[in-house]
Amino acid sequence: MSPDPALRERTIALVGLMGVGKSTIGRRLAAALELPFRDADHEIEKAAGCSIAEIFAERGEEEFRAGERRVIARLLEEGPHVLATGGGAFMNPKTRSLIKDRAISVWLKADLDVLVRRVSRKDTRPLLAGRDSRQVLQQLMNERYPVYAESDIVIETDDGPAAAAVDAIMGALASRPRAAVD
Ligand code: S3P
Repeated sequence: MSPDPALRERTIALVGLMGVGKSTIGRRLAAALELPFRDADHEIEKAAGCSIAEIFAERGEEEFRAGERRVIARLLEEGPHVLATGGGAFMNPKTRSLIKDRAISVWLKADLDVLVRRVSRKDTRPLLAGRDSRQVLQQLMNERYPVYAESDIVIETDDGPAAAAVDAIMGALASRPRAAVD
């Protein structure tokens, strides 16, 4: 069955902490909606010609954040797509306001235990390198959740398959009042 055209009118920006599954779920959501998928971290790496870990190490977090802001602004100029943002992107007031203007924001939320388990599968995240990931993620939850809560839609995810989260997002998008979608 073809996706409802009303769900394909605006970019859908996935927001949430590292490890929550923004890229995996985003890719599947894009396939379900027959929209392009963009991964902001990947686009930043392409633009910089090096990895995020290298950007942090060689140029510092501030430069990374500036690049992240530019790349997301550019992506939001494109037609409707599913956009997986990096965990810190929505914390930047300019990026947040662009996302609010040009996209439907979806906060993917998961328990600390789930996040800790998931981030352990990848060791390339500079904010976690050499640190206790549970402690870092707990601190980021405290700092970021009040801001992530400004998202248009909140989806609780667990350790289940990405398809369940995709279904939940599609359901939430479909039940949004039409006036709020335009
Ligand atoms: C970050 C999250 C990462 C990446 C960078 C910083 C953060 O993206 O942008 O390492 O500040 O939370 P993911 O959320 O895709 O891991």
